[in-house]
Amino acid sequence: MNQYTVTTTTGDHIQCAGDQSLLDAALRQGVWLPNSCNQGTCGTCTVRVVEGTVDHHDSPHVTLSPTDRTQGLALACQATPSGDIVIEPENGAGGTVATHPLRDFIGTVIAVEDIAADTRKVVLHLDDRIGFTPGQYVELTIPGTTGQRHYSIANVPGPEGMTREIELHIKRHPGGLASDRWAFGALSVGEQVEVSGPLGDFRCSDLESEGGVIMVAGGTGLAPILSILQTLLAAHPDREVHLYQSVRTEEELYARDLLAELAARHPNLVVKPCLTRQLWDGRTGYASEMIVEEFGTLRGWSGYLCGPPALVEAGRRAFKRRRMSPRRIHWEKYTPAVTQDVMLLT
Ligand code: FES
Repeated sequence: MNQYTVTTTTGDHIQCAGDQSLLDAALRQGVWLPNSCNQGTCGTCTVRVVEGTVDHHDSPHVTLSPTDRTQGLALACQATPSGDIVIEPENGAGGTVATHPLRDFIGTVIAVEDIAADTRKVVLHLDDRIGFTPGQYVELTIPGTTGQRHYSIANVPGPEGMTREIELHIKRHPGGLASDRWAFGALSVGEQVEVSGPLGDFRCSDLESEGGVIMVAGGTGLAPILSILQTLLAAHPDREVHLYQSVRTEEELYARDLLAELAARHPNLVVKPCLTRQLWDGRTGYASEMIVEEFGTLRGWSGYLCGPPALVEAGRRAFKRRRMSPRRIHWEKYTPAVTQDVMLLT
């Protein structure tokens, strides 16, 4: 396969195979490009091709319109180079953001635990240490298939931001290739799985700033929030943090012991479980509405949101309504996996 040079307008030179995405090549060589979904649906990785041409492959038109293409835009997670090219990241990039190169690992399943209704914790021991920033995710190639799925890392890295064990929280989706067939089906301790990571730019970015923090986690969107929360509290034990844990019913709540323990150690941490489809002796309703009711102004505060797109969008609107600075709002949407071209291996 031909090798090409991808040069960024910020001065980085990346070697990229003709069948390799621009994003994959950049991240593996330690060159940061903004990225989120890695499946062509969010647009975070958009770059401008200043010189040369790329193959857009299956870049969805809803994310990259024909006009975008004629204007030289490309999705770095989908596009491959057709020769040597020069690109300009559209969403800001460069060496100011601490990052860990994208790498491949073999993970061995060392623990599987049901932690809530249709929610499973899977712990993988990797064949080498992975470095990641709390909030990032890994890509798993689902055993027995050619399909990949993304799962946020729920634990915190060890010294130097590295660890050999990663904890993932998996929600069951009936009929789902990864969740139903694998994680809630054939998965067993000792099984090996291909892992690539870290990926994504939802991450703990408030270690240097001050002010309160509001976190909103929907379902297993709690996974990266737990990693960010523990990192934040380790750096700033007295920081005021309000965590809205949103699920449909009480049986879907999880990590209650860990959150209670953190709250006991950090009096300024307020954990607010809220149910959207069940009346109980706690909060019932939508986190976004509660935020608007409970806070007069959020100037000087930071916000983290992770979960289903509707929850994230409503939360972002609530933050803005209460005057939180847009640059202090961080979010990750859980979007459905792209499933075409996935094959079962026999
Ligand atoms: S479209 Fe490329 S990271 Fe989302």
